[in-house]
Amino acid sequence: METPREEAQKTSSSILKISFFATTNRRQHLEAKMKALILVGGFGTRLRPLTLSVPKPIVEFANKPSIIHQLEALKEVGVDEVVLAVNYQPELMSSCMNEWSKKLDMKITYSLETEPLGTAGPLALAAASLSTDRDGNPSSDPFFVLNSDVICPFPFQKFLEFHRNHGQEGTILVTEVAEPSKYGVVVADDNGKIQRFVEKPQVFVGNKINAGIYIFNPSILKRIKVEPTSIEKQIFPAMASEGQLFSMVLEGFWMDIGQPKDFILGTKLYLNHISEAKPELLQKGPGFIGPVLVDPSAKIGQNCTIGPHVTIGKGVVIGDGVRIKSSVLLDSSRVGDNSFVDAAIIGWQSHLGKWCRTQNTTVIGQNVKVKDEVLINGARILPHKDIDASIYEEGRIVM
Ligand code: GTP
Repeated sequence: METPREEAQKTSSSILKISFFATTNRRQHLEAKMKALILVGGFGTRLRPLTLSVPKPIVEFANKPSIIHQLEALKEVGVDEVVLAVNYQPELMSSCMNEWSKKLDMKITYSLETEPLGTAGPLALAAASLSTDRDGNPSSDPFFVLNSDVICPFPFQKFLEFHRNHGQEGTILVTEVAEPSKYGVVVADDNGKIQRFVEKPQVFVGNKINAGIYIFNPSILKRIKVEPTSIEKQIFPAMASEGQLFSMVLEGFWMDIGQPKDFILGTKLYLNHISEAKPELLQKGPGFIGPVLVDPSAKIGQNCTIGPHVTIGKGVVIGDGVRIKSSVLLDSSRVGDNSFVDAAIIGWQSHLGKWCRTQNTTVIGQNVKVKDEVLINGARILPHKDIDASIYEEGRIVM
């Protein structure tokens, strides 16, 4: 008899085959060969200690590098060439991305900055690529631009159609938030034409904020120089004042996963979305509660209770009697018998002993060893540390 996991794998692989053919057919009717630029040049300081080991876009979100969720969605709408705007250590990105480039059959190039160019400068640096077609001829085709930190259902086809329909230079995807006073708010008319931007409004002017996903005609490149420039502060206001910038409201969840609390919250929103959109990918069976994603190579002991909102990566080993909820276990991590993991990210190759407790947005870096019976409450543990005693003080950084 097949285990629930084997059954789910079988179903999901046949579904994958079907969706491959559906995608191939659909793609023939879509735009061929578009380009995209993804901003991957940030230092990712807020996601330390994970970003001490790998660049932020490579940290696995729901068991694959977060940038891969974006590439897969771009490929669906016919993007076949992506420029990664890198600002340091390009070899760290390329060693992982070359493999994905082959798997996804997408051309991936790197545009390397000699100084951080912010969120607009990298477009000017890559202008030669963004304003030409595959044969190097001038092109007026629009291109996508993405912040690498954002996760959402990526409605790129609808976004592209919206952009083409209004016919102006740029479109920003916007998302609704409950507390607009904490953000820069985008104010637009009923057609989506942006009228102004209001930073942290103290009176209500609207509840839509920039979701970090754009589509532009190459004419935007004339506005930007190869120098540190903020697209939000220096380019968008001018475009809006000329009536050249529109916004489309995102339906569904959205999260900037650039810091641990939001990474964990983003995982929850994504898994809730998957439980509606592709439930066959989720783990089912006794001991699993709510949406849980488990890599087939993971080993889980007896009498565990796992979920909701947990992702378990490649080669993870979980002992007996373990309780895990709202947490991310990165590849090759281990959790000893009877431990409790709540709202935590456990780094690659890190080991929690038996009867441990990690909670309250604890982030454990790569290759950390935590002794039996240790409690970690909301701490950040840097890579390669041995932790022998409990850490009660919230927010502590162990170096
Ligand atoms: P923190 O250090 O935690 O603030 O993260 P970050 O450096 O990634 O900054 P932030 O989250 O504000 O960046 C938003 C997006 O812009 C991310 O996709 C970054 O990779 C990208 N980004 C920020 N600054 C630069 C830059 O100077 N050059 C490039 N190419 N991308 C950048």
